[in-house]
Amino acid sequence: MLKVAILGFGTVGGSVYGRLEKSRKTIEEQIEEPFQITAILVKDRQKDRANLKDVFITTEWEQFKAHQKYDIVFEAIGGIEPAFTYTHYFLEQGIPVISANKKLVAQKGEELEKVATSGGAFYGYEAAVAGAVPIVNALRGTLATTAINQVRGILNGTTNYMLTEMIQKGRSFADVLLEAQQLGYAESDPTDDIESFDAWYKLIILSRLCFGKWADPEQISRFGVSEIENWHVEVASDIGCQVKLVGDSRLEEGEIKGIVSPAFVVNEELLASINGVTNGVVIYGEDIHELAFVGPGAGGAATANSMVEDYLFHKRYKGDRVVIAESNSKESASYDVVFVN
Ligand code: NAP
Ligand code: HSE
Repeated sequence: MLKVAILGFGTVGGSVYGRLEKSRKTIEEQIEEPFQITAILVKDRQKDRANLKDVFITTEWEQFKAHQKYDIVFEAIGGIEPAFTYTHYFLEQGIPVISANKKLVAQKGEELEKVATSGGAFYGYEAAVAGAVPIVNALRGTLATTAINQVRGILNGTTNYMLTEMIQKGRSFADVLLEAQQLGYAESDPTDDIESFDAWYKLIILSRLCFGKWADPEQISRFGVSEIENWHVEVASDIGCQVKLVGDSRLEEGEIKGIVSPAFVVNEELLASINGVTNGVVIYGEDIHELAFVGPGAGGAATANSMVEDYLFHKRYKGDRVVIAESNSKESASYDVVFVN
């Protein structure tokens, strides 16, 4: 019996639980053994979770980690601490951790990948970038040796939803932000969405996967949608553009340079047509020319889908003796991690 633990039981953690239960039969066929969600760690002991049967629910980390040896841990707490300490602990023990936490991956991913490598564990973060869009494992897997020189995308569902509703339907900022929060799209502190920290973390992660090294954060600028004024929208419309929050990074003489900012996007460009909570990522390279990935960028179900598939991706390829690369390299397939049975 495979023992599953979930850190956090909010929008994402709750949806991971729901997705695992909903797909139990097909998941068990894939992993060729039954699984049980055995423990959930939360923060607020006052919240009613009486509907959760046969699961150990606790607010105490010491109790949680001592409860039993888990086979897989899903991290959906968010932020740096205590998520970093918990993730570090499990990876060090060789237990795979699947995360939706882009802040943690962007800021501590380099260290956690090293811990994962030495512990022989998988650190999966498909859900940390662009919700349901399977861009992370595409870059780690089927595109691992593809030369990429630019990545560009709409990386935040909340603000793309807000811009769409405000510009196309004339709704107010406050009204649409509240709705995005109610729909479970926004971060617990929506400043992360509005001031582009969230998209900035995602661009840092994408840059690492596209260019094979971690960017110097100072080289990736950040501007939020709060910079947008009405006249920007009017001028954009007059000259055949849409106002979008765009992340863009590229390799310039071996250095990663990037920016997340509101931008005029010409109507002919794919990103101009991406509306609502949808995200889009376009990668460019000599051989691939232009490769686009589009889909739901936020929300519990979309994110949980990526987290569960991330785990199954790892299980499947580990079993099939296929290499999962940790980095792209123009020169060669320089793998840091090789999973072999
Ligand atoms: P959320 O709804 O606020 O849920 C957070 C959960 O973590 C809650 O269950 C909370 O416990 C628990 N928690 C917080 N601090 C904790 C602590 N110190 N110890 C134990 N548990 C703690 O947040 P969310 O939207 O699910 O987001 C979770 C993560 O997923 C974040 O990293 C976020 O960036 C990422 N993400 C979110 C989305 C999305 O669309 N929402 C999409 C992709 C990625 P209580 O229930 O007791 O309060
Ligand atoms: N708050 C994030 C967004 C969640 O709106 O894109 C998905 O990462």
